Amino acid sequence: MASLDRAFIDDLLSRIDIVEVISAVVQLKKHGTGYKGLCPFHAENTPSFNVSSTKQFYHCFGCGASGDAIKFLREHGGLTFMEAIEKLAAQANIEIPKTYTKTNNNLKELSHINEIVKNKFIENLKSNSVALDYLENRSITDDLINKFEIGLAKDTWDDVTNILKKDNMLKNGLSIGLVVESKGKVYDRFRNRVMFPIRNTSGHTIAFGGRALSQSDNAKYINSPESEIFYKSSEVYGLYESKQEISKKDQIIIVEGYTDVLALHKNGFGNCVATLGTAFTKFHIVKLLRYSKNIIFCFDGDDAGKKAAWKAMTNCLSELRDETNIGFSFIEDGRDPDEISNEDPDEFRKVIDNPVPLSDFLFDSYLRNLDLRKIEDKTRFTKSIMPLISQIPMGLYKKLLQEKLLTLTNLYNEDLFNDNQIKAEKNQPPGATNDISLSDSLMLSIFLEHPSLLDQFSEKVTKIIEDKNIIKIMKLIPTFKKGNSFQMNKFLETDDEIKELFIKYSTDKIMYKNEDSAKTTIISILNNYEGQDKESQYFAVLQKYSDGIELTDTEKTLLKSFKK
Ligand code: UTP
Ligand code: MN
Repeated sequence: MASLDRAFIDDLLSRIDIVEVISAVVQLKKHGTGYKGLCPFHAENTPSFNVSSTKQFYHCFGCGASGDAIKFLREHGGLTFMEAIEKLAAQANIEIPKTYTKTNNNLKELSHINEIVKNKFIENLKSNSVALDYLENRSITDDLINKFEIGLAKDTWDDVTNILKKDNMLKNGLSIGLVVESKGKVYDRFRNRVMFPIRNTSGHTIAFGGRALSQSDNAKYINSPESEIFYKSSEVYGLYESKQEISKKDQIIIVEGYTDVLALHKNGFGNCVATLGTAFTKFHIVKLLRYSKNIIFCFDGDDAGKKAAWKAMTNCLSELRDETNIGFSFIEDGRDPDEISNEDPDEFRKVIDNPVPLSDFLFDSYLRNLDLRKIEDKTRFTKSIMPLISQIPMGLYKKLLQEKLLTLTNLYNEDLFNDNQIKAEKNQPPGATNDISLSDSLMLSIFLEHPSLLDQFSEKVTKIIEDKNIIKIMKLIPTFKKGNSFQMNKFLETDDEIKELFIKYSTDKIMYKNEDSAKTTIISILNNYEGQDKESQYFAVLQKYSDGIELTDTEKTLLKSFKK
């Protein structure tokens, strides 16, 4: 994103009030310097959702959801980034700069080209009996063809090229990969293929998947390349067509292939989407969880399928909440969901109704190859699984997984979750105090409120702060805060531990509104520390002296001067 854009966003955020934005959907009550309410991202009875009007962000101590007004509108309202910006700009009554509208127009223009080409593909199919026969043989009915707007790329090099040439759209056509340029010549990317338009959630065609009609074709499928309007690793096939069924069933089935999606839609599983020949990513899960918290992956039961499922699982961990429910169904006999559901929908129903819960998949994948009676295996098991569990945000689900680990290993909580300080902090219940000393936390609160004091004190203060994370935050404060405005983007780029600490201390009641009294406190902490430091040095020397160890000259002076 260009820097001008970032500046615009920061400006926009400074002109709106997040409390107002969130109040529209969550009942907020004044609490300390901010507001509190029931978290809209997870089910709870006591409010742990905090909105800070001074910092202009929200944070839930229960599920870890946090962000600025844009993120709220995206994650809660399901808006795209651009839609969120537009909504806020309208509220603030400010105009979106040209750079934005230009990219936005570009998006419109590019998907418009896809739209034109899609219609050409649809038309091509209507008059091609070979392709129609192929689809019929594969049980792809007219209803499916219409619903998914399936088409045909002709067995020629210039069908699409000619359309784009005619309307001066060649350059844009190249940028979204409808045509390819080689040795100065432009030609169609997709030839002799059944074409599946890939639509974004608003229904715009952002890319295509093309299935070879000829068996001798080297590539069975070709997809549009990544482009300004198509990010493969966050798009799935069929989401637009499934949205309604997903919300009705409150469940999403994820399969691997285009034709699986088609067959399942026909056979009573309209809540089904597919990845686009790529691994399932964190972007995918973030997107899909907006539509339903109940997700079932349907993978092939072979090694490759298990591997893909494992990868998908690890990419989901950081997004798990107590109410997310992810399961894995495996098909053991090498058939596709396409074939099974066409032969017998009830058989597929059974596959889907008995998924392996994520927790079992996580544990059993290791346990199958390990013998926990052996200390070596138990060690390996524990060491492998701990970092995975630690990626899950705090909550009951995480606690129960930890408990299961403890039961399986006969270890105690202290053995596992306390030797590493960072993990211990993460595992603490929300709001619980940790080992951070009072003076460390006091200084953090003060500098968060008055970053300008850092110029004068940061060097001295960082020397006496004990907690490593607090030192890190101290160093980051000047990037988080510029003058009085809070830089949300810088904050969001940091790691979770920092965020949690930062939020904890900056939502504390502000005790030092006045900069002078804040300064006095810092000075007195520093003086006190110096005093303590002298005292502890004195006792160390005294100990040496009474142990009969010979003292250096400086030590002798210290002993004498302290006595005086
Ligand atoms: P499959 O090989 O299982 O194909 O690949 P399929 O979906 O069952 O297709 P049919 O039934 O033979 O027509 C699963 C998915 O992997 C991607 C596609 O998204 C496909 O749907 N893929 C596969 C590619 O991107 N390229 C390929 O060459 C093959
Ligand atoms: Mn198939």
